[in-house]
Amino acid sequence: MKVIPIASVCGRSLSAPEATVDFAAGGTVAADAWHLVGSVDAYFDGKDCHGVTIASVRVGLFRVDGEIYALDDICTHGNALLSEGFLDGHEIECPLHAGLVDIRTGKGTTSPIVRDTRRHDVRLDEGNLYVRLSH
Ligand code: FES
Repeated sequence: MKVIPIASVCGRSLSAPEATVDFAAGGTVAADAWHLVGSVDAYFDGKDCHGVTIASVRVGLFRVDGEIYALDDICTHGNALLSEGFLDGHEIECPLHAGLVDIRTGKGTTSPIVRDTRRHDVRLDEGNLYVRLSH
């Protein structure tokens, strides 16, 4: 098991609780592995966007109306982290060029984003958040 610190929350950097990411033995990851990210309460304590690294993949976590969504965190248009953007309803606005992505589907909804963002499965179990990476 390896511990990776969180880097950002909705538009600003901070010292956040650490994300515990479960790596498979030997550094490889099973195709259908669920990765323990950590306690939902520790992550979403009033802030609704977080970035974590899971098996070398940067993942943005977003919470809207109690539902949690996971997407690739790096914008498909450029080198920006969606988790540092601005969440408005179910859309995250990229902090670099203001492209919008629907966090439920990963679809880019405005220019300049023309390529969809990969979505990952999320599971909650006894207050813990798990993410299964899509391929
Ligand atoms: S980098 Fe995200 S819209 Fe350009």
